[in-house]
Amino acid sequence: MLQRVVVGLRVKLSQLMERQPLGPIQARVLYDVSVGLVGVTVAAAYGRHFLAESPRWVWMIVAMPLLFVGFNGALGVYSRLRTSRPKFKSVAILGSVVLAATTDLLIGGPLPHVVLWGILVFPPAALARLLLWLPYSRHKHLVSIAVNRHGPVLVIGGAGYIGSHVVAQLLQSGQPVRILDRLMYGRGPMQEFLSDRDCELIEGDATEIAKLTQAMNGAAAVVHLAGLVGDPACAIDAEFTRHANIIATRMAAEVAHSSGVERFVFASSCSVYGVSDKEVCETDELHPVSLYAQTKIDSERGLLASQQDDFFVTILRFATVFGHSRRPRFDLVGNLFTAQAMTDGLITVTGPDQWRPFVHVRDLARAICKVLFSDPATIRGQIFNVGDKRLNMTIKQLAENVQSVCRRYRDVRISVSDNPKDRRNYAVSFRKIESELGFHAMTLIPEGVAEMANALHNGKYLHYRDHVYSNVAMTTKAVSRFHDPEELAHLYAPMNPTSAWLGQ
Ligand SMILES: NC(=O)c1ccc[n+]([C@@H]2O[C@H](COP(=O)([O-])OP(=O)(O)OC[C@H]3O[C@@H](n4cnc5c(N)ncnc54)[C@H](O)[C@@H]3O)[C@@H](O)[C@H]2O)c1
Repeated sequence: MLQRVVVGLRVKLSQLMERQPLGPIQARVLYDVSVGLVGVTVAAAYGRHFLAESPRWVWMIVAMPLLFVGFNGALGVYSRLRTSRPKFKSVAILGSVVLAATTDLLIGGPLPHVVLWGILVFPPAALARLLLWLPYSRHKHLVSIAVNRHGPVLVIGGAGYIGSHVVAQLLQSGQPVRILDRLMYGRGPMQEFLSDRDCELIEGDATEIAKLTQAMNGAAAVVHLAGLVGDPACAIDAEFTRHANIIATRMAAEVAHSSGVERFVFASSCSVYGVSDKEVCETDELHPVSLYAQTKIDSERGLLASQQDDFFVTILRFATVFGHSRRPRFDLVGNLFTAQAMTDGLITVTGPDQWRPFVHVRDLARAICKVLFSDPATIRGQIFNVGDKRLNMTIKQLAENVQSVCRRYRDVRISVSDNPKDRRNYAVSFRKIESELGFHAMTLIPEGVAEMANALHNGKYLHYRDHVYSNVAMTTKAVSRFHDPEELAHLYAPMNPTSAWLGQ
């Protein structure tokens, strides 16, 4: 018998020396011994003058962890109760704490110290069982809350028109930011952030798995803004559009989840509503009229289906954005009209009676930050239209607004024709984001247009038709790189083309 114990001890010792990982029972015993010892140390420190008078009691107190583990073993905490519910295990652990304390008292242990020991040992021993009982995903959830809460917010597409505003607002609020962007429009929009030590830029494609994994590491949340934007750019090459808008989203969500990131905010678009005669809300049927809108719908559905108890998404359907940004865009109707008015003195309106919702880019960034810092219960799996009812208007009304602002600088005319190409026509309800998140726009059309007109007047931009501002020109360039086998080699591996995410 003694020989078997000695051999067993020697095996355990050699395992420890070789740093072999502990088995689950060994780990539990070690944990209980440690908790028992901490209890003993505190109890001994509490009564050190008392113990000094009678060193015999030191042994009584030292015996307690061994008695505790022994009774745990006898009651089945390490064997038959190992997989039972925490309340049964807690009762058993309470039983062995009481038995260990009683035994110690019987052999002459000091009552106050024994009671103190019991109070110190039971909660951590029982709590650990509660945590172990939770499913693995819940552990990850707890770990991600503990580890990632102070991590950076990852903004994928943070160098873009909207992204650069989101980055600025997050940094302003003291939140560290990490940007993952393939810099289709250059590094310029990022310049002023790069010296900020709370801002980190990773240049790369969202489907480049190594970059994506690096970007997700320790992130507190993800805002996914990257992708091809607008109907004309998305119509250039359907394969590239699916790559940039669907596959990138899918990979970002999967890597976020597996990296322990809990929150994923996705940039969708009110374009998903397509054509509608009535004011549309989040639960209304979708009528996409372009590949761009279809990729947003497919991504929304894939993301909502990918949610787990430790990973959730919030879908934001943006109204048509306008306003100044570090990465200017003149393919957006509000900005285009302003640039036409200021440069040519002529606003060209096609499809004057089509309704469209608008939102200023700063307000949009505000909405994203609001969602990032909202209670998960309010935003988990939710879709919000982002805009403001006061900015629902026809294209002609928008042109008239721009005209009245830009008239301060020069004479401006409006020419009107039909738009057989763009059939989008929708007014959007923003009641949900207003009532649930208290969001409403702070910049209306006149102020936003005035700011842009002033920047144009002061020569802040190149000519509005310059190719650097053109999504179509930059997408055409990116498409040729995308079809280069060398470029493709370090992007995603081929994926199943029948996947629901690809909308087929
Ligand atoms: N601007 C709008 O009116 C509007 C309206 C509705 C929805 N949205 C959505 O908001 C998001 C941001 O729009 P934006 O106006 O800022 O566009 P943007 O083109 O200015 O910015 C997109 C950024 O994403 C980057 N990017 C593109 N593909 C990438 C990839 N595969 N990997 C890494 N980076 C990539 C680009 O380099 C760019 O910096 C888009 O998803 C867009 O569909 C915009």
